[in-house]
Amino acid sequence: MRVYHAECILVSICLLLRAGNVEGIQVWGMQFGRAPLLEKFTWKIMDFAYPDERSRQLAIASGEYVPENSLPVGIEIWRNKLFVTIPRWRDGIPSTLNYIPLDSNQGRSPKLIPYPNWAQNKAGLCGSGLTTVYRIHVDRCDRLWALDTGTIGIDDTTVQVCPYTLNIFDLTTDKLLRQYRLRSEDVNQNTFIANIAVDLGKDGCDDAFAYMSDELGYGLIVYSWQQNTSWRLTHSYFMPDPLAGDYNIGGLNFQWGAEGIFGMSLSPILPDGYRTLFFHPLSSHREFAVSTRILRDQQLSQNSYHEFQVLSSRGPLSHCTASVMDENGLQFFNLVDQNAIGCWNSALPYAPINQAIVARHDEALIFPSDIKVKRGSLWIMSDRMPIFLLSSLNYTDVNFRILTMPVQAAISGTVCDNVSWRFSKNQVW
Ligand SMILES: *[C@@H]1O[C@H](CO)[C@@H](O)[C@H](O)[C@H]1NC(C)=O
Ligand SMILES: *[C@@H]1O[C@H](CO)[C@@H](O)[C@H](O)[C@H]1NC(C)=O
Ligand SMILES: *[C@@H]1O[C@H](CO)[C@@H](O)[C@H](O)[C@H]1NC(C)=O
Repeated sequence: MRVYHAECILVSICLLLRAGNVEGIQVWGMQFGRAPLLEKFTWKIMDFAYPDERSRQLAIASGEYVPENSLPVGIEIWRNKLFVTIPRWRDGIPSTLNYIPLDSNQGRSPKLIPYPNWAQNKAGLCGSGLTTVYRIHVDRCDRLWALDTGTIGIDDTTVQVCPYTLNIFDLTTDKLLRQYRLRSEDVNQNTFIANIAVDLGKDGCDDAFAYMSDELGYGLIVYSWQQNTSWRLTHSYFMPDPLAGDYNIGGLNFQWGAEGIFGMSLSPILPDGYRTLFFHPLSSHREFAVSTRILRDQQLSQNSYHEFQVLSSRGPLSHCTASVMDENGLQFFNLVDQNAIGCWNSALPYAPINQAIVARHDEALIFPSDIKVKRGSLWIMSDRMPIFLLSSLNYTDVNFRILTMPVQAAISGTVCDNVSWRFSKNQVW
């Protein structure tokens, strides 16, 4: 991060967001973080790294690329690559899985490079091209896990052109390591999966499971790397809270009453050898938890209603999209109603008193849609998604941002930094 800072200062392109909102109220009891957010990248409109301007113009003329139709939703970081995903909700998205090189100065609004290449991002080429990828995950074994939903469109316009397929890339060679089609029993007619968590167990790279949250079909699909098979489980905790479907974001009031299980984060490995999966429906103010001991066992996962825990409510205005937990047991989560990022130190019980806001900005954080922790820094994507979907974006304004802040600075002075970071045994949430 020091490198980026130096680079920013040198070329004076780094904008520290207006301190007023971010540092804001310096009352410790109010649980606000003090650290400034760094705007790493911003875009008015997304653009792609065509080999030359002529091919870009041809793509625009043919409708293959419609600049105002791209909405970035997911990010991930691996070494010098920053991945950015764009779902094919509308026409003219030339590539769904993309990256930005972090080691060359591409300016503040870099063009996206298809990953691993253009050909493997062609829509509708089932098995050989990615159609729509939402949130992705890079594991410690240099693998990129990308679920292709196989869909074009959103809501009523959705067409399932290919089956849901999990693609796992070897980032060191850019080759597809494995491709797995979800079984027809894993999905239903309402299925919409926009998020994935990857669970590396204590036995190394082969001891891997993926958990995919079915937001509108209300299920969790488990994929076992070792068995190369998948199963689906259901639980009433995957459902939305019918009282939590009303939203006010970016000046819009709307109802997303059907949004169930969405955000997921995994604890460090506990003394029993398993992690805890924390999850929440989008239309809810609650977090839930279950041990991966249950999820990893197909039989157990079908018949363990009481193994799922209900945690305290976060309180009002706490709809949450993505969340992440670092190796110290610190959880960060996107609070879309508050244009903010929250934290919780899982050494303490899950309750509002033990949570804090680490960043808030009423312009830069309109709809934080993804969050990651890499090398001691938080990475956040905000994209004004409700305005894109329900109204229209102003393309002379900045719409999409990737922001970063050091974890230590983010939690400094908040309850999240008030107890040992060490993940302890016998957690009670
Ligand atoms: C995993 O299962 C898929 C079926 O979706 C199959 O095509 C693939 O060859 C299998 N891979 C391995 C490594 O067994
Ligand atoms: C669009 O954004 C620009 C730049 O922020 C601003 O000057 C303009 O007033 C906005 N237009 C509308 C219609 O809001
Ligand atoms: C830190 O913990 C102490 C005692 O547990 C408590 O009195 C204090 O309010 C906490 N500080 C913050 C910032 O939460």
